[in-house]
Amino acid sequence: SQNIYILGIESSCDDTAAAIIHNGKILSNVIANQKIHEAYGGVVPELASRAHQQNIVPVVHQALKKAGITKENLNAVAFTRGPGLMGSLLVGTSFAKSLAYGLNIPLIDVNHMQGHILAHYIDEEGFEKPPFPFLAMTISGGHTQIVKVNHYFDMEVIGETIDDAVGEAFDKSGKILGLGYPAGPEIDKRAKLGNPKAFKFTKPKVDGLNFSFSGLKTGIMYFIQRETKENPNFIEENINDICASIQYTIIGILIDKLKKASKETGIKHIAIGGGVSANSGIRQALKDGEQKFGWTTYIPKFEYTTDNAAMIAIVGYLKYLEGYSTAQNIMASARLKI
Ligand code: KG4
Ligand code: ZN
Repeated sequence: SQNIYILGIESSCDDTAAAIIHNGKILSNVIANQKIHEAYGGVVPELASRAHQQNIVPVVHQALKKAGITKENLNAVAFTRGPGLMGSLLVGTSFAKSLAYGLNIPLIDVNHMQGHILAHYIDEEGFEKPPFPFLAMTISGGHTQIVKVNHYFDMEVIGETIDDAVGEAFDKSGKILGLGYPAGPEIDKRAKLGNPKAFKFTKPKVDGLNFSFSGLKTGIMYFIQRETKENPNFIEENINDICASIQYTIIGILIDKLKKASKETGIKHIAIGGGVSANSGIRQALKDGEQKFGWTTYIPKFEYTTDNAAMIAIVGYLKYLEGYSTAQNIMASARLKI
């Protein structure tokens, strides 16, 4: 009906991102990845904020240019308020405030986790939008949650990790095996060539719908220590089987809880998001769930699953349609809840 252009800005962790959405369709989705953290085997917060500071204006400029519009065409500026690293969030928040103030247009704060979930509502050919209510499992290097989504802004976290995120489980296991950071994609690749039942790792016992991954990491560490004492070449000789077995265990943990959540809520529409949803094993397990449990499953386009600004722009758009805008004195919030 209307002609709405919204800029989304994401800077919660180590990706500086900007996207333009036009009536629900993404016109541009620009990301500056920060390679610097690879050398440290994890995100260094101080370095992340500095890189955001450097990247934010060029990234926004690129997003406008690729969308073929100028900042004067914008109807609102949406930004990630949290959760995330405070120093990183401050860069996006301050920039968004200033831009909205300068253009005299609404400023819209967005919860990063709602972004991962509502990315499913981006208009994209070949991708279905889940009907309400549905279950969303967000799996990434920073989060692991199962959320009951009753409506756009009516969500309930019904399960979450009590320690490490699932992406961390992949990355920390990879570190033990001497793989690079982030190790998730590498484990996935090797898992395809290995036997998932070669080695058995204990699954954690956690109540209800919550997750725990730190015990698995410790278990893997002891297992590797034990085996390499007997055979110093154990890792090299068995790397594919080790990766396949780790991945198999992690997917088992995720699917067990999804099954439980689906049973308890009676909801069979299951959506996933976050970087780990790129994993080929979890994708296959979800597809299998369609036959085995009668699920209908939803996985967004790859560039909308990892941290990105398109998901922030769609939430901004949905809020804008409701006439929402935030006060200019809003603060970033590192531990913002859904
Ligand atoms: O969403 P994301 O890009 O950033 C946040 O952490 O928010 O997710 C990154 C995480 C990393 O832990 C990475 O190892 C994991 O997603 N990952 C994967 C795969 N691709 C990325 N884990 C398993 N299999 C993959 N194919
Ligand atoms: Zn994220």
